[in-house]
Amino acid sequence: MPNPVKELIKRYRPNLSIGEYGRIVTDTSEFMEITHGDVISLGGLHYLVIRDEAERSFGIEDPKYWVKRCFVLETGERRILKLVFHESFPLKLGSLEIPCYRSPEKEAWILELVKGDKRFMQGVTEYDEKGNPVRVLEVISGKRLDSVVYEIEAGHREYFYDHFPSILEKFLDACDAIRFLHRSGTIHGDIRRDHLWLEYGSGLYRWIDFDYTYDYHENPFGLDLFGLGSLLTFLVGKGIYTKNTLEEYGLDRSILSKLNSNDFSLLYRNRIVNLKILFPYIPKELNLILMHFSAGAEVFYESVDEFLADLEKCLGRIKGRGKGV
Ligand SMILES: Nc1ncnc2c1ncn2[C@@H]1O[C@H](COP(=O)(O)OP(=O)(O)O)[C@@H](O)[C@H]1O
Ligand SMILES: [Mg+2]
Repeated sequence: MPNPVKELIKRYRPNLSIGEYGRIVTDTSEFMEITHGDVISLGGLHYLVIRDEAERSFGIEDPKYWVKRCFVLETGERRILKLVFHESFPLKLGSLEIPCYRSPEKEAWILELVKGDKRFMQGVTEYDEKGNPVRVLEVISGKRLDSVVYEIEAGHREYFYDHFPSILEKFLDACDAIRFLHRSGTIHGDIRRDHLWLEYGSGLYRWIDFDYTYDYHENPFGLDLFGLGSLLTFLVGKGIYTKNTLEEYGLDRSILSKLNSNDFSLLYRNRIVNLKILFPYIPKELNLILMHFSAGAEVFYESVDEFLADLEKCLGRIKGRGKGV
């Protein structure tokens, strides 16, 4: 019996050779069973599955079995298919425990909202035969911003003076994009360092991954703001500083005697946010913004507006220097 996937490839991409011909999938519910060589038939197109996407953090590869890197047989384009995965877990914020979960519908809604706005990844939602909302995403050709920044070959001082000003300028625009979501009544939900990408060629900073949401009605935008704060701390520092990583960055451990518990992050208790202690040339105003995210903070940002207003003042002071990425 001829293999239907082999037939499809012969028809649309005769020059394409793949390791194994799988099956044609019309119901994507069992995403673990969909692998390399399968074809997902969706919205009139055929998506050849190449591999699962993965996220890398602290050197550990975290496979995302529900995120499939695909090749569209009809058009030859690359697409990422994000399949429905219901997951929920509690998030700890200080003494608070906030229920978090994934909502494919939320991501689908945001994709519609941000259509044409390049500060966000682009995509459409197609429904499989079981009604599962599959997000069909355009692939951003680029790299996580944090990796790009981490890999800039410069010591901190040189980075801070030569590169950081234009990074900050673009980061402001990325924050403005989040403000737009909030004004539209939604949240990003998972603002982390690996969800802001630098696109090659255009140099744009673009947000990905919008399906997380949480029940936190007291301060619905709070977690997004904490995400932005952590990202800013990373960008200012060109890395993550903990008691144990100081030496890796060429800093002397004696600095530790100048730090107390209030100088660390509220959300990630081991990370130093009072970066001015490590790098005295960081302007006071900028460091004060970081301190809003510290364990010792008494005032928190309640809106991206407030956060941006402070950041814009800092940018005004340090602008006009540097290369950036
Ligand atoms: N539009 C995109 N362009 C390029 N890579 C993407 C895109 N969307 C997702 N990815 C890659 O797939 C990984 C997993 O996707 P993501 O949406 O973050 O899934 P999850 O919600 O499970 O974290 C991302 O970390 C990234 O490496
Ligand atoms: Mg993700």
